[in-house]
Amino acid sequence: MKAALVTGASGDIGASIARGLARSGWSLYLHYHSNQEKIRLLLSELQSAYPEQEFYPLRLDLSDEAGVSALAESIFSLQAIVFAHGKTEYGLLQDMTSRQMDDLWKMHVKMPILIIQALQDKIARSRNGRIVFISSIYGEAGSGLEVLYSTVKGAQIAFVKAYSKEVASLGITVNAVCPGAIDTQMNAHLDNDEKEALLEEIPLGRMGEPDEISFWAVQLLKENSRYMTGQSICVSGGWLR
Ligand SMILES: NC(=O)c1ccc[n+]([C@@H]2O[C@H](COP(=O)([O-])OP(=O)(O)OC[C@H]3O[C@@H](n4cnc5c(N)ncnc54)[C@H](OP(=O)(O)O)[C@@H]3O)[C@@H](O)[C@H]2O)c1
Repeated sequence: MKAALVTGASGDIGASIARGLARSGWSLYLHYHSNQEKIRLLLSELQSAYPEQEFYPLRLDLSDEAGVSALAESIFSLQAIVFAHGKTEYGLLQDMTSRQMDDLWKMHVKMPILIIQALQDKIARSRNGRIVFISSIYGEAGSGLEVLYSTVKGAQIAFVKAYSKEVASLGITVNAVCPGAIDTQMNAHLDNDEKEALLEEIPLGRMGEPDEISFWAVQLLKENSRYMTGQSICVSGGWLR
């Protein structure tokens, strides 16, 4: 049975990816950090809709390296990982602390790389492995007031380009999906004026929905996507492209 790990499955984009993959027959390891209730509800939804597949919750603080080996040991067989966890820090670069820099780097870059190191052999066994990062349009275009976030999202894209070359011979593809502004918890802090100003900049005139991002992640895990690797796919309603 094909199995995937979705990090940030308790988030809005991650949950949408989990639903899309479950619909396509995947068994899933559903990672979360603090939102146990959302994972409990998602698990029971998926278990009753797809009783022949398997769904396991996995809790891990992705700012704590110590948990990586326990995570890897609790995963028996795996064909794919989708990294869909994350957070940002708003403010001028001048006001950012060394701690904030370390936290963002660790969560978005170092921890995913440690997880990949720990799971690469398992993923390679299928000869048709898949790794997808949910990066950001800011990793391509950059954003003032989110300079650190843009930097680590850009690092994810650089990692995808380099690592895809290293593991191509193992049959593993590595790609990034770069969302624009998506209507999720991450943007819940925007007030009406901020939202209006943002929408004026987006050619399609609206924010995206989580399923408009999960669609592409699910496509990348399909068997027919095996010739696509080392790419970043921007899904931003034309914003910042
Ligand atoms: N929304 C957008 O406009 C947008 C645009 C571009 C890129 N993205 C990227 O898309 C991905 C998903 O974002 P989203 O919009 O779905 O955000 P979201 O709904 O806020 O979900 C964030 C996810 O990250 C997890 N997380 C946060 N801190 C964590 C930690 N210390 N350890 C482990 N997990 C942690 C959360 O887990 P718990 O809730 O369980 O704590 C949750 O599952 C992120 O990488 C984000 O950067 C989003």
